[in-house]
Amino acid sequence: MDKNLNVVRSVQNRPLTLADKILLSHLDDPATTGMVRGQTYVQLRPDRVILQDVLGQTAMLQFMQTRRTTTAVPTSVHCDHLIQARVEGSLDLTESLAENDEVYNFLRTASAKYGVGFWSPGAGIIHQVAFENYAYPGEMMLGTDSHTPMGGGLGSISVGVGGADAVEVMAGLPWEVLYPRFIGVRLTGKMSGWTAPKDVILYLAGELSVSGGTNAIIEYFGPGAASISATGKATITNMGAELGATTSVFPYDERMARYLRSTRRGDLAELADKYRHLLTADSECEANPDQYYDRIVEINLSELEPHLVGPHSPDRARPISQMAAELKEDAGLVDSISAALIGSCTNSSYEDMSRSADVAEQAKARGLKSAVPFMVTPGSEQVRATIERDGQMRSLTDIDATVLANACGPCIGQWRRAGESVGNPNTIVTSYNRNFPARNDGQPSTMNLIGSPEIVTALAIGGRLSFNPLTDTLTAADGSEFRLDPPAEAPEVPPADFEEGRSFYQAPPDDGSAIELTVSPDSERIQLLEPWPAWDGNDFTDMPALLKAKGKTTTDSISPAGVWLRFRGHLDRFSDNMFMGAINAYTDEAGKGLNVVTGETGQGFSRIARNYKAQGVKWVAIGDFNYGEGSSREHAALSPRLLGGAAVIARSFARIHESNLKKQGLLALTFTDPDDYELNSEPDFPKVYGAFDSPREECGVIAVYSPDESASRLTFFGLFALQHRGQESAGIASNTGDGIAVH
Ligand code: F3S
Repeated sequence: MDKNLNVVRSVQNRPLTLADKILLSHLDDPATTGMVRGQTYVQLRPDRVILQDVLGQTAMLQFMQTRRTTTAVPTSVHCDHLIQARVEGSLDLTESLAENDEVYNFLRTASAKYGVGFWSPGAGIIHQVAFENYAYPGEMMLGTDSHTPMGGGLGSISVGVGGADAVEVMAGLPWEVLYPRFIGVRLTGKMSGWTAPKDVILYLAGELSVSGGTNAIIEYFGPGAASISATGKATITNMGAELGATTSVFPYDERMARYLRSTRRGDLAELADKYRHLLTADSECEANPDQYYDRIVEINLSELEPHLVGPHSPDRARPISQMAAELKEDAGLVDSISAALIGSCTNSSYEDMSRSADVAEQAKARGLKSAVPFMVTPGSEQVRATIERDGQMRSLTDIDATVLANACGPCIGQWRRAGESVGNPNTIVTSYNRNFPARNDGQPSTMNLIGSPEIVTALAIGGRLSFNPLTDTLTAADGSEFRLDPPAEAPEVPPADFEEGRSFYQAPPDDGSAIELTVSPDSERIQLLEPWPAWDGNDFTDMPALLKAKGKTTTDSISPAGVWLRFRGHLDRFSDNMFMGAINAYTDEAGKGLNVVTGETGQGFSRIARNYKAQGVKWVAIGDFNYGEGSSREHAALSPRLLGGAAVIARSFARIHESNLKKQGLLALTFTDPDDYELNSEPDFPKVYGAFDSPREECGVIAVYSPDESASRLTFFGLFALQHRGQESAGIASNTGDGIAVH
């Protein structure tokens, strides 16, 4: 970093924010000039790649096509997403091992063959394991999961990407990303009482919205930053993904050093102390933030209230004190809580578990238990073993908590939930990070509200969403009324070292070249990939709109998880779910549309697309704002490519999905005027109207439309004349009929 930053400073000659220091010290060419935030692309050299077991399958399958013998940067695979939550941790783990044996074997063998570290099922959730082992100040890490930014809690620029981006870096290519804007969040004061680090990000989500961080790095600074533990910072940076941010980062401080030492990385703390000036912003940036950040948000931690966000979107935020009033006004909300869940990658730190255990102990002392099913997901085996040793787990199970496996489970729809709430409008409260419809139990009618683990624990005991633990009382077993005390301040690391627990890590052999990697052609879990066919040189013409998606269209809507997680390594099989959760703007129905070739209605989109493909008809999809928000799931781009899609035209895109579309050879186009989305409104015969172009300058596009009623199909000229890596755009014009958009 030091060496590269000297080169950067010699050509840039300006004060640098922390994000700039880490980004620019990882430039492929540190002497690069002419970078413009939010406009030009930079080529970076990340230090490490982490893969989870779902996207890891497609990443490994794509890596096989590179014909390299080992990865170019240290890489690890983490088996966390495929483990289902049914009964309790150890039973669920045993069943999931049997069910996913073929996938785990593939990942284990591929890891050994290509020099990749393998964290087998039970080790924990990718981000928590990476936080304990791989994140460090000044690092740049890529991960095939949108919550990779959790590493920012240790001063790492950790970014969630799709598999294709990860594979490029594993193959030794630089990673190309839009040079992001910087949002500065200045923290003052100190949290106390019920307020937790989670409330910083819940509040910020309400302020900035789910797209407010798009193509931006959120950099925290100010005197309040050092008052937050490293793991609390990690909760905040983890959930920066909910704002669409490229990543989030905190400056290096003593809290990070303490965590590094406690996780057997004292050598890194020493190094970071020595180079502290590289791991914090230049003092001019903090003194005059308006000049160096594109936007500034101020948060006084002393005044911050506990928040709840949701249902259905993490930016529907309010202080907990307003929840009861909102319940009275909004008949769609359900007061009675059907389940409470704490933990996950976002919030299962030693501090989180200690504060939740404190609340649980207070209930226990009054003869109370959780009023609703209450589940705890430890983020890693290290967390699980440590809270078992130190008693927090006992405090939680004493009020009837069920401890789930060290895995994603209900956080990613792997919750095999039973009971009367299933399918009916019901409220769950979680300390997870994401609350899109159907995210947790596959049921769109389940409403997930997110809060800190200590607040969720209190709500589990209260049993009602309108219960405000700061002001309301509970009835003890003896009939007396009492109020919960705010949980005591808890240490971020245990007084003794962390307990490592059982070992789940398998290091790769020195030479794995002799290892055979076979995939059965009959497998329904794994399918070897072939390169996409090259463009044949012909323009794409006469393309119907397969779908005009209305409203929030997440990667979960485009390529649902839940039961489909099983098929994530089999491209053809999982593509049967394409657009299943997307709302058809013409009919308001989810997942179904009109086959404009046959005239049949009410067919699933993947079936229609397969029919178009069989007839050689390419298609486009139309999207609303922030299309493709949510997870980094590249399956949401792979399926449209497999089934004959050529382009997605949206009002705007979420960053990772836009990149995933391009990496799989689909055009990601935006309407020049977002209101043109409304023009495409004829239910009987979907047409595409409106001028649109590439949202970025890298693409020499090329979009032509015809508002002529007789021209019912979209016509592109010169599609895929993409000038993607810094070359000049191609100016393209052609005979077009009415409207032309060219640049
Ligand atoms: Fe797993 Fe965390 Fe994503 S728990 S599903 S890695 S949000």
